[in-house]
Amino acid sequence: MKRVSDIVGHNSVLSGFRGRNFLTTADFSRAELSELLDLAVQHKYRQVDPGQPLTGKSVALVFFNPSLRTRTSMTVAIQQLGGVPVILDVGKGTWTLEYREGAVMDQDQVEHIKEAAGVLARYVNAIGIRCFPSMRDYAEDKSELVLSEFERHGRIPIINLESSMQHPLQGLGDVMTIKEKFGSVDQRKVTLTWAWHPKALPMAVPNSFALAAAQYGMRLTIAHPPEYELDADLMSQLQRYAGENGGSVRVTHDLQESCRGADVVYAKSWGSLHYYGRMEQESELRQKYRHWMVDEDLMARTAEGYFMHCLPVRRNVEVSDGVLDGPRSAVIDQAENRMHIQRTLLSLLLS
Ligand code: CP
Repeated sequence: MKRVSDIVGHNSVLSGFRGRNFLTTADFSRAELSELLDLAVQHKYRQVDPGQPLTGKSVALVFFNPSLRTRTSMTVAIQQLGGVPVILDVGKGTWTLEYREGAVMDQDQVEHIKEAAGVLARYVNAIGIRCFPSMRDYAEDKSELVLSEFERHGRIPIINLESSMQHPLQGLGDVMTIKEKFGSVDQRKVTLTWAWHPKALPMAVPNSFALAAAQYGMRLTIAHPPEYELDADLMSQLQRYAGENGGSVRVTHDLQESCRGADVVYAKSWGSLHYYGRMEQESELRQKYRHWMVDEDLMARTAEGYFMHCLPVRRNVEVSDGVLDGPRSAVIDQAENRMHIQRTLLSLLLS
């Protein structure tokens, strides 16, 4: 069996990952993403020997927010590669962290990211960070200040475990799942649909799935109620990537039509940018879209398509039990594939 270290040693695309940050798939070329995906599939089916490239190395996993899949799959992936995961829950067992430049720290935040990142970088070889948006100020959330402050003051590889705007490990796990189901991803007809949820949620998952779908040349339909557009800069980026990679992107407000002939229906809720920071008004707005749920009737319009969701999911709110428990639900495979993507990526960034 070929060793991953030998494959990487003879492949300039794969060896080019070493020492880099992993913040968004947009920082990586189509060639890099394709090689990464191929290697992750080989990892999953034990066609390569991963070795123990993280022996003697540690990775800090810094969680500002809860997680089941990311936390577990990153921990296991690091251990499988011979490394030591150090899990830190901010404000619960570690100090609360301030990130604003020039902050007068006379409130609840005990330590600044400047010191926290600088210190962690002396102990570990990479830092993974989960930091959701505040959902109060869109410009501030979009600036991804927590990630950039860790990057600036840590100066070791930073891995995005879901930030305000991106969840790139999820996006790659999703693409790997589609490749696994169909054998290829090019030109695959995928529908990303907004789904009703009692709360306004962040946009990191829809952003990352749409971005990865465009980068891998899929035919992407984005379905949402009129007030729920994705970020305008992201939409321009999607059109550019789709054009460069032989795919396409279109938007519709017609949920039923969006699923016709689809290979994949990916459901996710997100908040309206028009009401960002105004939760009560947003909540009133979304009440009229309770019917945006994926059920058996909707899936019957697809080309025997698969149902996808990043999880956690609200049953019989975002998706019916029948679809989620049915034979075309790919949600558990998606979650598993996160681990194979992450093991591959960690071995490339840190070997
Ligand atoms: N999909 C995902 O990132 O799950 P967790 O929030 O449980 O990590």
